[in-house]
Amino acid sequence: MKVLVTGGAGFIGSHTCLSLLEKGYEVVVIDSFVNSHKKSLKRVIDILKLNKNINNVNIEIMELDIRNENALDKLFFEYQSNGNSIDAVIHLAGLKSVKDSLLNPLTYWDVNVNGSINLLKVMNRYKCRTIVFSSSATIYGISSNESLKENAEIKPINPYGRNKVAIEDLLNDTFFSDKNEWKIANLRYFNPIGAHPSGIIGEDPMDVPNNVFPYITRVAAGILDKLTIFGNDWPTLDGTAIRDYIHVMDLAEGHIAALNKLIECDHQIMNINLGTGIATSVLELVETFERVNSIKVPFEFADRRLGDSCKVIADNSLALSFLAWSPKRDLEEMCVDGWKWQLLNPTGYK
Ligand code: UD1
Repeated sequence: MKVLVTGGAGFIGSHTCLSLLEKGYEVVVIDSFVNSHKKSLKRVIDILKLNKNINNVNIEIMELDIRNENALDKLFFEYQSNGNSIDAVIHLAGLKSVKDSLLNPLTYWDVNVNGSINLLKVMNRYKCRTIVFSSSATIYGISSNESLKENAEIKPINPYGRNKVAIEDLLNDTFFSDKNEWKIANLRYFNPIGAHPSGIIGEDPMDVPNNVFPYITRVAAGILDKLTIFGNDWPTLDGTAIRDYIHVMDLAEGHIAALNKLIECDHQIMNINLGTGIATSVLELVETFERVNSIKVPFEFADRRLGDSCKVIADNSLALSFLAWSPKRDLEEMCVDGWKWQLLNPTGYK
């Protein structure tokens, strides 16, 4: 089974490629490398060779921007002509900074939405109609205190979130245009953190991180002075905001579970939350990180960040029952593994 992973060199992509290869899939990666490193996939190969004593890792890597429809077409054509067609796609390519999306909405719509349209056009042309898409919990309008089910209100508040909704809509329309052809899974990620336990691959933001976890690891490493915690006046037990952090390896394995489900099931479209369902406040995250790694993370409180929500927690019951997947790593492992990656790679992949 040959799987094309778009954006396969990024944080989630590299961990997902590792899981796919461990399960014996053949992997083709395309990536523009604008926000990722070629080294991440070399490291994936290293991990496989180290752990499994495998000499021949079945992965091909190409630099390709999903906005380039001709290049995408050529790729599918060449595999098909060699009798080695691409069977399914895991679509992770896209720009992912909320802040950046507010400053550069046209670029975000172009890369994320036009890129996805190109991909679907080419997939359709070559009758490759199985796709797992990387969506996000950011699409939910968050107003209640309850954990979020997949049928919760969809109400994104920034261009990045609206891109994700547009792509889900696109996939939905595509599915209903020909219900007997497509198999689609929209995976709505909560907050992926941590790294592979080897510390060989992990998250490597290009600039100062916007997300809390890579910020914490850099403060602990002394690269950044202190963490700013946005808001200590939220209506939570300790006043800091609550999220559902999920180990990136659990998330990676969620993609494999979704893909396996699509392969075995009838044609369908599914929206599935990938989270742990466990609530953690920013202070709890910092305290856990400090405790398990025996290291201090200096912090200060500041005003709430614009656009933040108090609590974002997954109801993951659908993933548990339907995908036969469950998150296996706890917050302590996320903190230990993320710190190991930071310690072994103080400058990331550079
Ligand atoms: C953010 C994005 C979301 C995206 C996700 C990817 C926003 C508003 N949302 O989610 O669209 O899908 O990342 O992982 O950017 N925090 C601090 N100090 C920091 C950074 C964050 O206190 O320096 C707090 C935030 O206020 C929040 C929590 O930590 O309460 C988690 O923040 P973050 O890691 O940025 O994730 P989200 O905001 O949940």
